[in-house]
Amino acid sequence: MNCIAAVDSNWAIGIDNRLLFHIPQDLHFFKEKTVGKTVIMGKNTLMSLPEQKPLANRRNIVLSTSLNEKDFIVCKDLKSLFEKIKDYDSDELFVIGGEQIYRLLLPYCSTAYITKVNAEKPANRFFQNLDLSENWEMTFKGEKQVYNGIEFCFCEYRNTQPKKI
Ligand SMILES: NC(=O)c1ccc[n+]([C@@H]2O[C@H](COP(=O)([O-])OP(=O)(O)OC[C@H]3O[C@@H](n4cnc5c(N)ncnc54)[C@H](OP(=O)(O)O)[C@@H]3O)[C@@H](O)[C@H]2O)c1
Repeated sequence: MNCIAAVDSNWAIGIDNRLLFHIPQDLHFFKEKTVGKTVIMGKNTLMSLPEQKPLANRRNIVLSTSLNEKDFIVCKDLKSLFEKIKDYDSDELFVIGGEQIYRLLLPYCSTAYITKVNAEKPANRFFQNLDLSENWEMTFKGEKQVYNGIEFCFCEYRNTQPKKI
């Protein structure tokens, strides 16, 4: 299982159920990584998407105790999520947020694709700081890119001790 997130310099990811950045190259990267795969998200993240609709061309799994299934799969707890994904190729599973779901599933992820944005934004949702996390190591750091004066780079981290699903 993998996760993918865009973070600011404080590892912030969101405010008031919105993203902090809209960087076209990052959206393109996100799409490239996840199209044709399975994405796993929390209810709030689903609600933050355009028209509160699941992502096109991907199998969408939403963790929620309150939603009913529509054009996405709902799992009401970790056990039913693990039951649902047990036969899927784990390389094709992408945890896409938000804070609660990253926190829940990060220990099970072997790779984290992190877009690091060199900015500090007001925020109320955060990702675990992988630079300070014992069992995570950076395995790739892309070249610095700039969009509209905002610097960012694509990084990859590897979990040296992922938990078994
Ligand atoms: N920067 C990025 O890459 C990125 C990516 C995604 C999201 N975000 C941001 O993150 C923020 C949203 O994060 P969030 O922490 O508020 O919400 P979230 O993680 O998207 O969703 C939380 C909801 O998931 C459900 N849930 C949580 N744990 C569960 C469990 N064990 N079993 C079943 N359901 C469970 C609950 O829904 P019920 O109440 O229905 O039970 C809970 O209210 C937004 O600001 C969004 O823009 C940022």
